[in-house]
Amino acid sequence: MKVSLIAALTLDGFIARHSSEFASWTSKEDKRRFVSKTKTAGVIILGSKTFDTFPKPLPDRLHIIHTRDVSEYTKKILGKFSWDTLPENILITSKEPEDVLEDLEKRGFSEVFICGGSQIYSLYLNANLINYLYLTIEPVLFGSGISLFNSECDFKLRLISEERTELGTLLLEHEILQNS
Ligand SMILES: NC(=O)c1ccc[n+]([C@@H]2O[C@H](COP(=O)([O-])OP(=O)(O)OC[C@H]3O[C@@H](n4cnc5c(N)ncnc54)[C@H](OP(=O)(O)O)[C@@H]3O)[C@@H](O)[C@H]2O)c1
Repeated sequence: MKVSLIAALTLDGFIARHSSEFASWTSKEDKRRFVSKTKTAGVIILGSKTFDTFPKPLPDRLHIIHTRDVSEYTKKILGKFSWDTLPENILITSKEPEDVLEDLEKRGFSEVFICGGSQIYSLYLNANLINYLYLTIEPVLFGSGISLFNSECDFKLRLISEERTELGTLLLEHEILQNS
């Protein structure tokens, strides 16, 4: 299973100003890459706080949403969208990351994107489950906010590709080599 982290960062390293901010501040090139990559994989993994920022689920992708309290969060989501039952593309889970990936493999997925936020990026990174990083560096500053990761880590990476847009957005792709 190819497991990739995908995120947009400010030049000073933040993914959001606060945990209820929707990531609408990113460039059209970042949005285009996000849609294309995640639609190809067909499945995204995210935390409940990130899903809370979505106005609606993303089309054509299975959403695996991590929470510590599945029944409470399910109730919240059913209420928010006025649904009687969860649609087929929403799966709310309190399983461990390894078990989530194993289930996805059994369902026939060969690629998945870890779509944040900070808590979920750290959860998968620290479990050594991430192979690739798709980071977009946007030429904006927040000064403070939520960092890409919320805990210490020590990994070496190899740059696979880089692209710079006219307005100075950097689209990077890295492979994780090892944790030292
Ligand atoms: N710029 C970008 O590319 C980007 C990408 C993604 C997200 N974001 C931003 O990031 C912010 C949210 O990030 P965040 O770090 O605050 O929250 P998050 O990672 O999206 O979600 C955190 C939630 O995940 C659940 N969780 C965490 N660890 C868990 C574990 N070990 N087992 C089961 N469930 C677990 C908990 O849900 P419960 O509280 O329900 O138990 C926790 O409150 C938002 O502003 C969002 O827009 C930005």
